[in-house]
Amino acid sequence: MADGEVVADHDVLMIGGGLAGLRAAVAIAETSAHLDVAVMSKVYPMRSHSVSAEGGAAGAIADDDDTLDEHAYDTVSGSDWLGDQDAIEAFVAEAPRELLQLEHWGCPWSRQPDGRIAVRAFGGMKKMRTWFAADKTGFHMLHALFQTTLKYREVTRYDEWFVTRLLVDDGRVQGVVAIELMTGRIQAVTAKAVVLATGGCGKVFPFTTNANINTGDGMALALRAGAPLKDMEFVQYHPTGLPFTGILITEAARAEGGWLVNADGYRYLQDYDLGTPSPTPVLRSMELGPRDRLSQAFVHEAEKGRTTASPYGEVVHLDLRHLGEKLIDSKLPFVRELCLKYERIDPVHELIPVRPVIHYMMGGVHTDIDGAAGLDGLYAAGETACVSINGANRLGSNSLPECLVFGARSGRAAAEYAGSAPPTTAAVQAQVDDEVRRLRALLDRPAGDDDGVARIREELQSTMEEAAGIYRTGPSMEKGADAVQALRERADAVGIRDTSRPFNTELVAALELANLVDIGECILLSGLAREESRGAHQRTDFPARDDEHFLAHHLVRRADDGSPRIEQLPVTITRWPPGERVYGR
Ligand code: FUM
Repeated sequence: MADGEVVADHDVLMIGGGLAGLRAAVAIAETSAHLDVAVMSKVYPMRSHSVSAEGGAAGAIADDDDTLDEHAYDTVSGSDWLGDQDAIEAFVAEAPRELLQLEHWGCPWSRQPDGRIAVRAFGGMKKMRTWFAADKTGFHMLHALFQTTLKYREVTRYDEWFVTRLLVDDGRVQGVVAIELMTGRIQAVTAKAVVLATGGCGKVFPFTTNANINTGDGMALALRAGAPLKDMEFVQYHPTGLPFTGILITEAARAEGGWLVNADGYRYLQDYDLGTPSPTPVLRSMELGPRDRLSQAFVHEAEKGRTTASPYGEVVHLDLRHLGEKLIDSKLPFVRELCLKYERIDPVHELIPVRPVIHYMMGGVHTDIDGAAGLDGLYAAGETACVSINGANRLGSNSLPECLVFGARSGRAAAEYAGSAPPTTAAVQAQVDDEVRRLRALLDRPAGDDDGVARIREELQSTMEEAAGIYRTGPSMEKGADAVQALRERADAVGIRDTSRPFNTELVAALELANLVDIGECILLSGLAREESRGAHQRTDFPARDDEHFLAHHLVRRADDGSPRIEQLPVTITRWPPGERVYGR
């Protein structure tokens, strides 16, 4: 088969085989058995980043001293009032049903001794509502969902296909061009609707919990196709990553009673209006504050000289020793395994060195509550999307149910659209041919001795950290934006040393780099436009939240000349007017 052929035509094509993509596929297969559904992913589905989620998935179980409204309020307040409240209300109402559904599909949720679902506390959640499967929750959820997709014959899979372009004609998305990695062939798959579910973009920063695959592919594809991205300035640091690798030490470790201590062995969070120290885990207590506040507290401890130098930067320590081996082995076995394998320490007896690490992108492809992304035929769900329920700061354990709730919603909406969408237009073939020419030219471009994909990517990552880390300023982001423009020129000119076609990982890395550059630029421009501090976007030159001017989303889209433009979109407030975020009191 030659490059540039249209190899298949589907009704709905999911890009991404993680929780959101697979949930969308199952939703379509369940409701519209006559539709032809496909899932395309650059990795085998079980290697999607959802698999590495650890701590749990939030869903209020109404008979257990919790209500949907309380979950909604915690999410609204956690978002620093930037979350859309209609989306949040829908989310909290559907999350418990989705989690229960997953149990019926085989997810082994941890249970209480009496057999009921076990829930644990989580940061910023004032009630215990986080379902978990020990501390390997993502693995079990994804496994249950993946095996469910296998029973639907109408779900075709394209494993290890890397999408390089959305096909857009007649004002609607009609499929994709992708590289089949095993052969290197460049092919097109058309579809009446496309759902982007490619996860986040943590690799735009140097130190992240994200897998190497999280390069913002879906966001960049949408942006280039003309769809806007939303709230890209809000990038979440998780307070506890292992130094060097960035591997996540789950918030569940603190939910089970772990303490964060500084170089003096002092539980420093008591100094940051996050509650008082307690010998046992207490909701609202300091270690269970929201992630933005905990990561900011780390910076202040470092400034006061109360952190510890390590070969991989300053660290504080997570102390689990008082929890005992039995609890650690039953509730946090993965934490112990990770510490033993990657740090050679045993948390039963030793302190775990940790530091804040890029974890999650609150922004993403702008969608409505059903995943529609502003271009006919285009939908997005999961971390790729910004619905937005997370606003300026996501609460831990809201993202797994978000993937399920909005994966299912976008799948259903895409199916409905596909049911009456017109067939593919002939003009699409010209776009496929264009893309083949572009990719072949990239493969044929001679590589120089000085620049390579890896070097440019590293420079981009350190630029982003300096420009838009836990604290930012206008000048830091302006300088970063200039540097990103210079890096774009180098990335556009980069040559590929490996000219072979099968599994050409250098070619894929170059294409991913282009995505990272686009995302980095959006983060900085959106951040510059937001002259206030809110949630994860903390500007030392504008330290206060400014609802008068910035209680609004930022949309960034490409103008006709290719340059990015920012506009504001009002936040949807249904029942909870803006208020103060209070945790310690
Ligand atoms: O710490 C964690 O287990 C992370 C959970 C999340 O990001 O939702």
